[in-house]
Amino acid sequence: VSPFSPDAIVSDTYRSETTELADIDWDNLGFAYVPTDYMYIMKCARGGSFSKGELQRFGNIELSPSAGVLNYGQGLFEGLKAYRKKDGNILLFRPQENALRLNIGAERMCMPSPTVAQFVEAVKATVLANKRWVPPPGKGSLYIRPLLMGSGAVLGLAPAPEYTFLIYVSPVGNYFKEGVTPINLVIEHELHRATPGGTGGVKTIGNYAAVLKAQSAAKAKGYSDVLYLDCVHKKYLEEVSSCNIFVVKDNVISTPAIQGTILPGITRKSIIDVARSQGFQVEERLVAVDELLEADEVFCTGTAVVVSPVGSITHKGRRVSYGEGGFGAVSQQLYTVL
Ligand code: COI
Repeated sequence: VSPFSPDAIVSDTYRSETTELADIDWDNLGFAYVPTDYMYIMKCARGGSFSKGELQRFGNIELSPSAGVLNYGQGLFEGLKAYRKKDGNILLFRPQENALRLNIGAERMCMPSPTVAQFVEAVKATVLANKRWVPPPGKGSLYIRPLLMGSGAVLGLAPAPEYTFLIYVSPVGNYFKEGVTPINLVIEHELHRATPGGTGGVKTIGNYAAVLKAQSAAKAKGYSDVLYLDCVHKKYLEEVSSCNIFVVKDNVISTPAIQGTILPGITRKSIIDVARSQGFQVEERLVAVDELLEADEVFCTGTAVVVSPVGSITHKGRRVSYGEGGFGAVSQQLYTVL
């Protein structure tokens, strides 16, 4: 699969009820939830495999109060995007990668997972059923949120007896309220999002609940988000609550290596591919917090944030600033090619 072209062009096998655009303000999309028309649901029993799913009108779902996901957090999610092109085609960005990552996460969380083909078909069906919510070219994208959860009832701690794979979608614009203006990060020292041997490397719902406290405190102080350090040495960069991080020094691009505590981002991987193809040296390694002092550029990557330049990082009260209010030269080049 070429890193330079989207993997899947959504074919028109499933038609939405109308091809007109939904009546919303396409010029002011942020990253807030907008309910759409359809969701996709597929269920299977513990020890079984997913076989047949269906599209349903979008709405609330029924769960036992004793569902595994509600009681013990047995749940994973994914995030990917569909874009409308000027010629009317709708493109998905590397959906197979999300399917594979869900498979790996499901194994860690003792859940069955849809196959890659089932995942991609379900994503296509959901996007086409909600076609009128895919923003016009240049206005944003359709964010696709697959969930995999232990939906069966449990009381004692154990894998749930039933699993639900669900996909819903929502049109989105920029993730950070800053838009394309660089974001301001603060390094967290007390709270950690992941530990060696834990679930930091898979997209379990609990990883995201764990960052809310530090993130809320940071936002209350005017920061855009929190940058986490490793919990053992409290010295090496890990990731931001919602995205991966890259540091540029003398045209060498460094990013924390994937060693179980960092989410293997698909945009992260794509940016590494793009950077190497553009002749940059990319190092996946331990990146010490002190390296931020010397960096020429810092940027974040993720499905939601895409590529986001970092304008400043505050560490123990000391603020280091980067750039002049926009993308740095390297991150701009990578973003353009991506
Ligand atoms: C994504 O970038 O798709 C994520 O899942 C991060 C989430 C916090 C929005």
